[in-house]
Amino acid sequence: MLTFKLSERAVNTPSSPIRRLAPLAAKAKKEGVKVYHLNIGQPDIESPQTFFEGIKDFQSKIVAYENSRGNPFLCDAWAKHYKDILSIDISPENILITQGASEALIFIFMICCDPGDEIVIFDPTYANYLGFAAISGVVLKPVETSLKNNFALPPPEIIEQSISGKTKAILLCNPNNPTGTVYSSDELQSLVEICNKYHLFLIVDETYRELVYDAKKPLSIFNVAYNNDKVMVIDSLSKRFSLCGARIGSLITSNAEILKAALNLAQARLSVSSIEQHAAAYMLNNLESTYVDSMRAEFCRRRNVLFDCLNRIPDITVHKPEGAFYCIVKLPVLNAEDFCTYMLREFRDDNETLFLAPAGGFYMKEERGIDKVRIAYVLSEENLRRAILILEKGLRSYLSKI
Ligand SMILES: Cc1ncc(COP(=O)(O)O)c(C=O)c1O
Repeated sequence: MLTFKLSERAVNTPSSPIRRLAPLAAKAKKEGVKVYHLNIGQPDIESPQTFFEGIKDFQSKIVAYENSRGNPFLCDAWAKHYKDILSIDISPENILITQGASEALIFIFMICCDPGDEIVIFDPTYANYLGFAAISGVVLKPVETSLKNNFALPPPEIIEQSISGKTKAILLCNPNNPTGTVYSSDELQSLVEICNKYHLFLIVDETYRELVYDAKKPLSIFNVAYNNDKVMVIDSLSKRFSLCGARIGSLITSNAEILKAALNLAQARLSVSSIEQHAAAYMLNNLESTYVDSMRAEFCRRRNVLFDCLNRIPDITVHKPEGAFYCIVKLPVLNAEDFCTYMLREFRDDNETLFLAPAGGFYMKEERGIDKVRIAYVLSEENLRRAILILEKGLRSYLSKI
């Protein structure tokens, strides 16, 4: 028999903690159980009508490759969007269109680092950063943040302790997945200063940028440091425009060398889908002026419902998320993955149950998240209320059994 060995890269790439329990959810559904999905950041909100009009507006008789850099009309429309929402003048030439933020992140890891180089991240972190690091051979260096103080960034001297001779960049997700924390202009400024001091790149993942609540205003790192050639933004239409399946993201920087290197990688993969790019440009150019505010208001209402309902459950710890549509919740259990498995495998309330993401996979040291789950509040208010009631009942049942 032939034996073969997979690459270290393949072996070291972790499975997604969000999807790990998916077979149990699929089984429950097959048995006719209704499963409320709070495990994954897939909003239930309809994609903008103008996106579908844009698809119809695609006139070409051939679905040809698009420019490797991206559809120029989409780059123009995206730059205009920055002007409208953030009052920033981005040159369309500084935007490279990617297959979602995911591809932009893989490109930037590959461009900033050789295998073995390090990127500083804040822990807990978006779990797929671990996958992107494994693909590119990058070592992630975690700076710990904590539920106790709403996952605020630690002072610069603590962050600096994670920087070594191999560090090439700091990566921040703002607003944050999985914590829902929104970082201030001062916090962003202090990261810019650290990067200037140590000659590091600052990569800011702004996938959720406009989803900020209460009195907060959307804030890009470009509002703090635009013409800084160490700074780059990772952007995406997936979440704020409910277009997860369109797979449209971007890498934006004023650094010509980075853009040139990214274009070479982009040429190697040829192009992003031409029809979706056409539709995205059409959508951004014809977006209703109230669209962004209405998305923000909708998720703010959901956040309020979630927070109120969670606060009524005894013995759990939760902080009030300020942005994105996630929060980390500490449960009165020893092992949250075991509890999530119990919910999918055994617990039923009126033939309904709940899918939560165990938070261990969002922490570099899994044990830091062992008693926590990440909740994505992507369901309607009514469904959220029902889902949190199921959580409360499920917890009671689980705790009575162990
Ligand atoms: C923080 C963050 N960055 C990037 C992504 C990937 O987004 P995209 O769908 O644009 O690839 C996600 C998706 O959940 C995310 O939460």
